[in-house]
Amino acid sequence: MARRADSPGFVLTSRRKTESIGKAIGKVLHEGDVIALIGDLGAGKTAFVRGIVSGLDAPPTLVASPTFMLMHQYQGRLPLTHVDLYRLKSPEEAEAIGLSEVFADKGVSAVEWADRFPHLLPSDRLEVRLSHRTSTTRSVQFTAQGTRSHSLLARLTRILPLLQKQRPSPRIGDSGKRKASHR
Ligand SMILES: Nc1ncnc2c1ncn2[C@@H]1O[C@H](COP(=O)(O)OP(=O)(O)OP(=O)(O)O)[C@@H](O)[C@H]1O
Ligand SMILES: [Mg+2]
Repeated sequence: MARRADSPGFVLTSRRKTESIGKAIGKVLHEGDVIALIGDLGAGKTAFVRGIVSGLDAPPTLVASPTFMLMHQYQGRLPLTHVDLYRLKSPEEAEAIGLSEVFADKGVSAVEWADRFPHLLPSDRLEVRLSHRTSTTRSVQFTAQGTRSHSLLARLTRILPLLQKQRPSPRIGDSGKRKASHR
């Protein structure tokens, strides 16, 4: 089995930035890829999935935490199943909603609160860890732990530098000073 690989951390300076990294992943997903999203309430997991949906060229619809439905499917270049494990209390409940079939189906999946029942997820998954920095900034770090997720991370890493270059140029009159980060 491929060894575990951790990406460096990336700062996400806005919700749009989070969505654009999600979109980049959506563009390079292959059938069977599993995205495991980990992070506190409001860390940006759903924002990230909104980007994935857009990167898969699914028709633009409202992407919300599937908190009440637990699961929602989007039809794009590949079908995406978006799952939220937050409200599930036991592995039995997770099984009852058909979680294992999600990974057996054709298509790709994105699971919020993936750390609640990690043993119910395929071991070869790309973990996306989102953390709060300030009220409008987050950080993200990727971990691949299998052959499939390694190659997904490699495809993503190839295009991430392009994304970093898409930063808007400083406005005229911007002295270039930035507030110090709290952390
Ligand atoms: N850099 C950022 N990236 C993502 N979201 C941000 C960022 N800055 C601010 N936000 C805001 O934080 C909130 C993130 O909400 P989102 O629903 O994506 O989080 P979540 O991790 O899915 O939460 P939950 O655990 O409740 O499902 C949104 O209101 C979004 O506008
Ligand atoms: Mg959410």
